[in-house]
Amino acid sequence: MAVAELVAKCLQAREMAYCPYSGFPVGAAVLTTGGAIITGCNVENASYGLTVCAERTAIQRAVAEGYRRFTAIAVTCDIKDSFVGPCGACRQVLMEFGTEWDVYLTKPDGTYKKTSLRELLPLAFTPAHLQKN
Ligand code: THU
Repeated sequence: MAVAELVAKCLQAREMAYCPYSGFPVGAAVLTTGGAIITGCNVENASYGLTVCAERTAIQRAVAEGYRRFTAIAVTCDIKDSFVGPCGACRQVLMEFGTEWDVYLTKPDGTYKKTSLRELLPLAFTPAHLQKN
């Protein structure tokens, strides 16, 4: 897989963000085990709490398209001087669909820092815990 392609897709997805309230566009792109890339952007709402993050938009699109196994996600926002991670809620949603994600935190210029979901969400609660009662 070309990381460059995944990164390029998250940057494109950010262009589609619907964020009239925050003015903070976010883009995400998830890579399936089969090599498909599904994108998402944040979608805000006048009832602020109904806002959906870019990462969760991507996951929900992917699942609705029949994909449940992923290997990587790239995420980007407009912040130029640091690598920004997904919010805590999105980390948990990613964990639902695998513990071994590579995560590419991407700046607007396309430079990225590779991390992992395990690093971002240590000691996580996962679906496996529900099978151990
Ligand atoms: N946002 C995301 O899309 N992903 C994150 O991981 C953090 C926050 C969005 C939600 C809201 O539309 C805007 O960024 C500001 O919080």
